Amino acid sequence: MNVSLNRDEIHRKREQFVVPGVKQLFADPPLFVKGSGVFLYDEKGREYLDMFAGICTVSVGHCHPKVTAATVEQVQTLQHTSTAFMTEPMVTLAEKLSQITPGNLSKSMITNSGTEANEFAIRLARLSSERFQVIALEHAYHGESHLAATLTANHNWRAENVPASGIVYAANAYCYRCPFKKTPGSCGLECAKDVERVIQTQTNGKPAVMIAEPIQGVGGIITPPDDYFPEVKRILDNYGVLFISDEVQTGVGRTGKHWFGISNWNVIPDFMTMAKGLANGIPIGAVITTPKIAEAAQKQHINTFGGNPISCRTALAVLDVIEEEDLMANALKVGTYIMEGLKDMQKSQPAMGDVRGKGLMIGVEIVGENKTPLAKETARIVEKMKDEGVICGKGGLYGNVIRIQPPMNITTENANTLLKVLKTSIESVIGTPVH
Ligand SMILES: Cc1ncc(COP(=O)(O)O)c(C=O)c1O
Repeated sequence: MNVSLNRDEIHRKREQFVVPGVKQLFADPPLFVKGSGVFLYDEKGREYLDMFAGICTVSVGHCHPKVTAATVEQVQTLQHTSTAFMTEPMVTLAEKLSQITPGNLSKSMITNSGTEANEFAIRLARLSSERFQVIALEHAYHGESHLAATLTANHNWRAENVPASGIVYAANAYCYRCPFKKTPGSCGLECAKDVERVIQTQTNGKPAVMIAEPIQGVGGIITPPDDYFPEVKRILDNYGVLFISDEVQTGVGRTGKHWFGISNWNVIPDFMTMAKGLANGIPIGAVITTPKIAEAAQKQHINTFGGNPISCRTALAVLDVIEEEDLMANALKVGTYIMEGLKDMQKSQPAMGDVRGKGLMIGVEIVGENKTPLAKETARIVEKMKDEGVICGKGGLYGNVIRIQPPMNITTENANTLLKVLKTSIESVIGTPVH
């Protein structure tokens, strides 16, 4: 396998030459040298079941032959011209995005990342509304630029002392730890109503836009109740506020029934932003909006690499594979199977405080008595799972959520391996529950 440095040398050079904030998930990280389907391989050939997909990105499996063939063919034909010149893949991708997104969303700007997509969406919302303030949700993650990091309401990801201006925050729909100390079913949707409170108390009454992830990914797979987004949208419409659905993690079929997460709530946003799974790991981002809003993008906009033929051809191949292999249906089928397995396990394992998500976007919150977040134990469980050959992610404001976001072509057999290894790993770190 083609690595010229050994694991220790790579580790040392990483410490020496890469900024310290680029952290690793594992205390004792494997050196991955190959990926195939739902598996990763280290330099000794050891196989790992990848249940995190490069942070929710390798949507159709590592090195999918059809996707790789499209990328390679494009690399060998035409790699770059910039958007100042006419090429086909960007236009075909923009057309395809207009076909798979709901409502009147039909004008795209292709970028290189989710951060850039969110930046552009906010800019466009401000330009088209001629308003400025932005509402974000607590615990959100929206990216790494100054603006996107300010939209990110999670101190773990906020480096700056001085935030970007004009951002206000509403409570998130975190039913397991309700910010209003209510219980689902009898809560009166206080979290959705908080959007109105924030508009009335923290803005001039005319904010430009609200941005939200349908399911907060980095925030710990926080999954709002069914009536949450319809109520939020009703409030936003009342105040003439636009809505961006950040589909960077929930996009391209991961939640099962729909191409995009927000459709699970039957809401049509004014913008969708996407990235990650759209090109299976080749850098890409995209914003899609309505023709009316897009009218505001009249000044010149260029993004040197955005819309490049390699990323766009790759994205088109990914979308084809999702359709041809019926991967949304598979995400729903295997996701439901995993969820049922976890709920079953939860009955006898009190450390599994909450199990939540949709399709193949699943979180397990690890807690002690009185729901105390067990962050160190969660890190040890995920580390133990890796030692047993299964890669899962970790997230949440308190660092105590195990994230299961695998490639969409996993099988129930893979799911059984996950469930078995998760169970024994929790037991080995937390202890076997007493019956
Ligand atoms: C919901 C969400 N939005 C935006 C981003 C930023 O995307 P990128 O890392 O491609 O800039 C991420 C990345 O994790 C994300 O999860």
